[in-house]
Amino acid sequence: MLFLGLDIGTSAVKAVIVDDKEAVLAESEQPLSLSRPGPGLSEQNADDWIAAIETILTRWQAEQPALLAAVEGIGLSGQMHGSVCLDAEDRPLAPVILWNDGRAAAEAAELNRDHPDLAWRLGVPAMPGFTAPKLLWLARHRPELRARLRRVLLPKDYVRLWLTGEHVSEMSDAAGSWWLDQAERDWSDAALAASGVERSQMPRLIEGTEVSGGLRPALAARLGLKPGIPVAGGAGDAMAGAIGIGAIADGAFLSLGTSGQFFVPSTEYRPLPDKFLHTFCHAVPGHWVQMAALLNGASCLAWAAGLVGEPIEKLLAEVAALPPGPGRVLFLPYLAGERTPHNDAEATGLFAGMTGATGKAELIRAVLEGVAFSFADAATCLAEAGTELSEAAVIGGGARSPLWVQLLADVLGLRLLRYRGGEKGPAFGAARLARSATSGEPIGAIATKPPILDIAEPRPELTAAYADRIAAFRRLYQAEKAAR
Ligand code: XUL
Repeated sequence: MLFLGLDIGTSAVKAVIVDDKEAVLAESEQPLSLSRPGPGLSEQNADDWIAAIETILTRWQAEQPALLAAVEGIGLSGQMHGSVCLDAEDRPLAPVILWNDGRAAAEAAELNRDHPDLAWRLGVPAMPGFTAPKLLWLARHRPELRARLRRVLLPKDYVRLWLTGEHVSEMSDAAGSWWLDQAERDWSDAALAASGVERSQMPRLIEGTEVSGGLRPALAARLGLKPGIPVAGGAGDAMAGAIGIGAIADGAFLSLGTSGQFFVPSTEYRPLPDKFLHTFCHAVPGHWVQMAALLNGASCLAWAAGLVGEPIEKLLAEVAALPPGPGRVLFLPYLAGERTPHNDAEATGLFAGMTGATGKAELIRAVLEGVAFSFADAATCLAEAGTELSEAAVIGGGARSPLWVQLLADVLGLRLLRYRGGEKGPAFGAARLARSATSGEPIGAIATKPPILDIAEPRPELTAAYADRIAAFRRLYQAEKAAR
């Protein structure tokens, strides 16, 4: 049996076809463009996601039609929190406002002021990137569009509508809308009312491991897939990534991609809203996650490399030649604002502590350290929410650098392990969910952990030295805030 996993990312749509021995038989990626029509704004056209999927599937249909024809189930993963606002004909009313868009800051603050208790049920206070405050923003700033609104979907659920004709979401992605009661695993009528939307405008809710509908026959014929094959609920991309490395009931990990996450799966709902930790439903029934959501991960290194105009590999080699341990330069990584622990869309990046002798390698090391310090803030929030760790995995593009992983281990005082073959990402997790939904096998039996590649042990003397730098990093953020 073959399964198709589709991940609607921010920079690309990714697709994989996986067999029942978990071999990846086909893998493809189609880039997406992002529109930034103003400071703090971030949009995409929902139909671009569908066009990207069609491009991949049409290419496969030409190159390996037998593979597509043998697919028995489809799973979806996607960027979370985006608002796909549909009219009565199920057409998007406007470009989708993405997870990293800050325009609804005033509306998020207002929701928190007027409904302070809701955060305990919704897993986190409202933040500008979430879907609910964006709907309030739409009502205030684009009333003519708001008047035509019939339904709101999350990004991957718009793709599902195209695949199946069904309006369905699943718990893990719905969790990031700020409309889901996380313990009840149902829409919260209080949260819907607070942002002026109705249950009838919401999709039906299922679990990620359940079937949401069958592939529309006309589409199946056009794309060379079997008609009616099940489309699984799937997951938000963070949770689909977790399923991809078997992090269901245990297996904390750091994801060092464009953004960063410190992700801890759990069989209990344990919120800590005042630290802006996201306590969300996992894509598996009876499971939740605690997630510190950092908006600035490996993107900071890409930004710095772009500024100095040199390849990341070369810069990392120069940092490796420096003596280990904290540098004198501090870097605040908040190039895109920050969610956990600050909920501060206005936060900015900052270098501090330079002298005339400071060189390029020291600045790059400060960038690596600054991102690591924001993960230390995340670890502190998790500890306050009752989650003390001694070990975690590291996944994502940043995990390719053993230097950065060792630095993270030293800063966090945690053993950090990497998986062999890298991790296969959210599309692979979505394919695993497709298999569970199609075959009825429990997801726990499918979603095993990959073999370990290596382990970075924290060096206690460096962990102690970094503790002072973390304190200075926190003071620097307060100074940056005061200077705005
Ligand atoms: C999670 C989050 C990201 C987005 C974009 O809260 O914002 O994972 O889903 O990938």
